[in-house]
Amino acid sequence: MELKDKLLDFLEQNRDRHLSGEAMAGELGVSRTAIWKAITTLKEEGYEISAIRNKGYRLDVDTDILSAQGIKKYLQEDYGLDINVIHSVDSTNSYVKSKALAGVNEGYTLIAGSQSMGRGRRGRDFYSPPDSGLYMSILLRPDSYDADKALKLTTMSACAVCEAIRELSGKNALIKWVNDIYIDDKKVSGTLTEGSFDIEGGYLEYAILGIGINVFKPRDGFPEELKSKAGYIYDEGLSDIKNRLAALVISHFMSYYKSGDLTSYIKKYKEYNLCIDRDVYYEGRCVHVIDIDDDCHLIVRDSEGRIRTLSSGEISISLSK
Ligand code: BTN
Repeated sequence: MELKDKLLDFLEQNRDRHLSGEAMAGELGVSRTAIWKAITTLKEEGYEISAIRNKGYRLDVDTDILSAQGIKKYLQEDYGLDINVIHSVDSTNSYVKSKALAGVNEGYTLIAGSQSMGRGRRGRDFYSPPDSGLYMSILLRPDSYDADKALKLTTMSACAVCEAIRELSGKNALIKWVNDIYIDDKKVSGTLTEGSFDIEGGYLEYAILGIGINVFKPRDGFPEELKSKAGYIYDEGLSDIKNRLAALVISHFMSYYKSGDLTSYIKKYKEYNLCIDRDVYYEGRCVHVIDIDDDCHLIVRDSEGRIRTLSSGEISISLSK
């Protein structure tokens, strides 16, 4: 961990008071010059740190800045996670994948304030500008998961994100199969789950659960091609909201995942789903969604009255109807 991150953790733990450069230098075992340089870097990265002569430094109480310490503050358990926060990265999924390939244990988590090359499903980009969203990837190494169970990770994630948004904002967040979250007919979150299978063994070696959430309206708005589809949770900045949201998503997801019960969340997944009893388009054809089964497959009736089970792919839905 770099000095600036240790310093940020320390400031986060002491948000309610000023800390002198000397006290921080003593606590972190470095020189006062090193502290001053780290403070300058943090300020350049956008952290609002006030300095008062003879009193010292303090992270502004209202700052909505992501930090590992700030997230842990809201977690009831640590769930065996190693939570890391970074200002900006190309893609949290790519970064965590490099950790997975290097043999890092389950639980390594990276949360970024922005991504320069955020990736979405089906090779699409995921728009991830600064000061607007939450971009998080968790490394999982589940015991004996086959391909079908792997789908459960992604639907578990959708359920966890949906619950977290509902709990924190009170907004009517809904799930569009498989894992998109919508508020007022606009997409506010998506999950990209990537993994590696041991073909001979038929099990999942690792999975990376990548969650992107549009928390606030981007400073410069959404790019033209996203304007009609993309939404966000809050119109304006709120104190410490990203840390709270990250903690809630983590708690909900990890409770489901650690329980080992792959059906415990299905009731909620169905309850929050906006697809049931609707006409949707799947591979260019209109089908009517009857239900979602315990494997999170979509049970649909096609135009000839045949019942089909859809296990993967993408549906589109006319949300104005
Ligand atoms: C989608 O809706 O198509 C899925 C979007 C997933 C975006 C998240 S943001 C964190 C993680 N890192 C990435 O590069 N992608 C995922």
